[in-house]
Amino acid sequence: MRTYGDGTARRAALREVSIDLYPGQLVLLMGPSGSGKSTLLAVLSGLLEPDSGQVLADDDGAMRDIWQLTAKEREQHRRKHTGFIFQGYNLFPALTARQQLEIVLKWGEGADGGDARRRADEMLERLGLGNNKNKKPAQLSGGEKQRVAIGRALVKNPSFMFADEPTSALDWENGQKVIELLRDAAHQRGASVLCVSHDARLLPFVDVYYHLDDGHLERRELPAE
Ligand SMILES: Nc1ncnc2c1ncn2[C@@H]1O[C@H](COP(=O)(O)OP(=O)(O)OP(=O)(O)O)[C@@H](O)[C@H]1O
Ligand SMILES: [Mg+2]
Repeated sequence: MRTYGDGTARRAALREVSIDLYPGQLVLLMGPSGSGKSTLLAVLSGLLEPDSGQVLADDDGAMRDIWQLTAKEREQHRRKHTGFIFQGYNLFPALTARQQLEIVLKWGEGADGGDARRRADEMLERLGLGNNKNKKPAQLSGGEKQRVAIGRALVKNPSFMFADEPTSALDWENGQKVIELLRDAAHQRGASVLCVSHDARLLPFVDVYYHLDDGHLERRELPAE
């Protein structure tokens, strides 16, 4: 349960919701605007504390409630195991594409400079951004920025990936590339991936589909192929 505001203005953005995420699965979360999708992602990823309830995560072999950890432990868990693609990229304006990825590796896991550069370049190549490594966000198109944001989330090989409307700013060709990358993160790298979207065209790419409406979560059947 997560509410916003207090007193009479108090309103529940999430009610009694329960969701299981498994390694190797790409899960799609749909629902109308304001239904609580971003709130749920923030609670699951350790960014926003729920009023009640647990978020159990496998942390190097032990199941732990991330909201029972100290703030420092939770921050460590997030840096080490969680990739987050924000609604609207959240790139650092002053950094080049390559630096956006390097900083995650250096700061997140203490990788040395050479290792960080090699892995950043490898990921940018995979994303088709080999020629854009030295560009800053203002010099990149929307689709390129989106791919840098995805690279930043993927480069550390996180166990958990959360993506908030990662295709909303893209044309369908680029949107398709993005959902394929998220599917690869799950199917090839064994990550648990939770993707929020309004776009029903993503349904054929995913393993599981949930619908959220006014804070109530329901698992739905995928349409037959
Ligand atoms: N910081 C906040 N303070 C107060 N209310 C908030 C806050 N953040 C979100 N809300 C409210 O909580 C509800 C759920 O918001 P949330 O951002 O989770 O929705 P969403 O499903 O992600 O919507 P969208 O599809 O538009 O991104 C909305 O009614 C919203 O107005
Ligand atoms: Mg949202």
